[in-house]
Amino acid sequence: MTAKIIAVVNQKGGSGKTTVSMQLAGAIARRGNKVLVVDADPQGTATRWAASAEDDAPFPASVVGLSAASGKVHREVKKLIDDYDCIIIDCPPAADSPVPQSALLIADLALVPIIPSPLDMWAAVGIRQVIQNVSDINETLQARLMMNQCQPNTTLAQETLEVLPEFGIVLAQTQLRHRQVYRQAAVFGQTVHSLGSKASAAVEEIEKLTDEVLDILRMKK
Ligand SMILES: Nc1ncnc2c1ncn2[C@@H]1O[C@H](COP(=O)(O)OP(=O)(O)OP(=O)(O)O)[C@@H](O)[C@H]1O
Ligand SMILES: [Mg+2]
Repeated sequence: MTAKIIAVVNQKGGSGKTTVSMQLAGAIARRGNKVLVVDADPQGTATRWAASAEDDAPFPASVVGLSAASGKVHREVKKLIDDYDCIIIDCPPAADSPVPQSALLIADLALVPIIPSPLDMWAAVGIRQVIQNVSDINETLQARLMMNQCQPNTTLAQETLEVLPEFGIVLAQTQLRHRQVYRQAAVFGQTVHSLGSKASAAVEEIEKLTDEVLDILRMKK
């Protein structure tokens, strides 16, 4: 097997990179794939997330900390590519970090979670530039902007959607709403799938995101 690689990137802190990395990794693993999350962030949030799981219900994907590899993370990931169906790289937020660029060099898909507000859109301009630069080298790199923490019918979200065409990255069809269960899943070291009926709407949107991402990567659903 040769893993498909997703780099979850945005220089803006708190946009949902780790949440999307872990929920997506868990959901892809639950469909029978061997999935690895590469925690490329020195904050170690993804690593702590998986470590919070109970021994009798481990997180469904493996997590490895590779933040020390810094701008050479693509070399380390390359060594693992034959061992997994899918590798998701959770990148750090810092604008001056060499990690996102390195991760994008070997990625099939750049996934950019963004909170729909003008401030967050402006802050994401930096990562758009990085994606464009890397695309000259990694010509098959695809990219999707993904709205996270959406609060429907707010004017801010609508204004954000209006400026999107100028932004230059295709918008993912799936959006994630602001929901408490996303925070709770992190506390329990699980995906929303483990939280019972109160999480059913969140499970539905994560499954939809999973379908969309597997389609883009041409992986079996
Ligand atoms: N859709 C959502 N609904 C509710 N809370 C969310 C949602 N997505 C993320 N959060 C919460 O927002 C916070 C930031 O999310 P997360 O850690 O995933 O962002 P990040 O981009 O990885 O942050 P950093 O840049 O620090 O790595 C966390 O407390 C997380 O639980
Ligand atoms: Mg994070």
